[in-house]
Amino acid sequence: MKEIKINFDKSGLNLKDILTYSDKVEKISDKMESFETEGSEFLGWKDLPNNINNQELNQMEEEAKRLQKEGIEILVVIGIGGSYLGVKAGMDFVLGEYPDKNSQKMELIFAGDSISSTSLFQKLKYVENKKFAINVISKSGTTLEPSIAFRMFKKMLEDKVGKNNAKDYIFATTSYSKGILTELADKEGYTKFIIPEDVGGRFSVLTPVGLFPFACVGLNIKKIIAGAQKANEIYSSNNLSINDAYKYAVARYILHKTKKLGVEMLVSYEPNHRYFLEWWKQLFGESEGKDEKGLLPHSAIFTTDLHSLGQFIQDGSKILFETVITVKNPKNNLKIFELPKEEDLDKLNYLSGRTVHEINNIAFEATIDAHALIGKVPNIHILIEDFSEETFGSIVVFFERAVAMSGYLLKINPFNQPGVEVYKTNMFKTLKK
Ligand code: PA5
Repeated sequence: MKEIKINFDKSGLNLKDILTYSDKVEKISDKMESFETEGSEFLGWKDLPNNINNQELNQMEEEAKRLQKEGIEILVVIGIGGSYLGVKAGMDFVLGEYPDKNSQKMELIFAGDSISSTSLFQKLKYVENKKFAINVISKSGTTLEPSIAFRMFKKMLEDKVGKNNAKDYIFATTSYSKGILTELADKEGYTKFIIPEDVGGRFSVLTPVGLFPFACVGLNIKKIIAGAQKANEIYSSNNLSINDAYKYAVARYILHKTKKLGVEMLVSYEPNHRYFLEWWKQLFGESEGKDEKGLLPHSAIFTTDLHSLGQFIQDGSKILFETVITVKNPKNNLKIFELPKEEDLDKLNYLSGRTVHEINNIAFEATIDAHALIGKVPNIHILIEDFSEETFGSIVVFFERAVAMSGYLLKINPFNQPGVEVYKTNMFKTLKK
């Protein structure tokens, strides 16, 4: 597997503290593997990488190639929460924020992720005169935000290419058996991709939810699955001493319970991880934040946010710890070049010969010392190898395994989200009056 290295040296915890949880972790892990834990009807995600259906993978790749060949410029991905964040996270993680046109086979735009009229209008306008296809993603098939957006984009496409042709450019990713979307897709004759019943939204990025848009944009989905499979071999072990995902879960549990820290800030030094951090926030926030328990997941991009949140982290209330992701090999590396002495007006010649990535790493080392040693903010460090599809598959599994263990340590069901329903009930009561 591509390397994922975790380091607790600056966390204020030593390995011995973490390993005192070995028996507890072993018990939870064994129960989880035999589907005896609370919420086990939603444990489908943990075996996803191994149970992948190659026929379905091939179908997704073929459909993606067809769209690319036909010159479709944009795939409008319509979804929210778990039906949105992982897709955006994976695409940016592998391709970067401004992908070069040779590696990006199609532009993806995201809709149905809010009820903002301004946003929806602008997105409709953006695709109006371009060749676009639609992938509407909703497990329940009833979520209001994507439903509204889908109605609008569907109409626009049908008006443009005709109702009969439009069905070749609309893909519904949804539950097999229930929901309005699955019925609508059957009636209209859309290609359907299935989200397994036992996989909850925030755990669904390695299902067609993520895989079909990934194939369209040009990612190698088989490599993503290969990375996930390798990670699953390691991070499903019940042996805490060799399972870093569970060590991370235990470390954050100790920091929360014994050091009374209420916030975990996940930090990356790579701006194209912004949506990966958003995906992680949903994964941990929705899984753990219940029964008046859980850490508040927060995120930051460094060094960017050192110029905004840095002050608080260093000197503000002692309510948080940081988990920091850095990448060993940058996608592209730049060197600081030397200028003739008389032209060294910016006085940066002292950096000449150094790479920008090296300077980023020095900033990381300096910050970890400032925050952990001087600011007394515990730091966990996760080093990943690169920006590849394999690494993305592996790090997804790492955090999914960790959040499940973490939830069970907190004695909550990590797979439901009763709190999310409250706003919906209130809203629908008014809308249906
Ligand atoms: O994790 C979850 O279950 C949620 O975030 C859902 O993904 C989100 O609410 C969207 O639901 P659906 O896919 O049913 O439209």
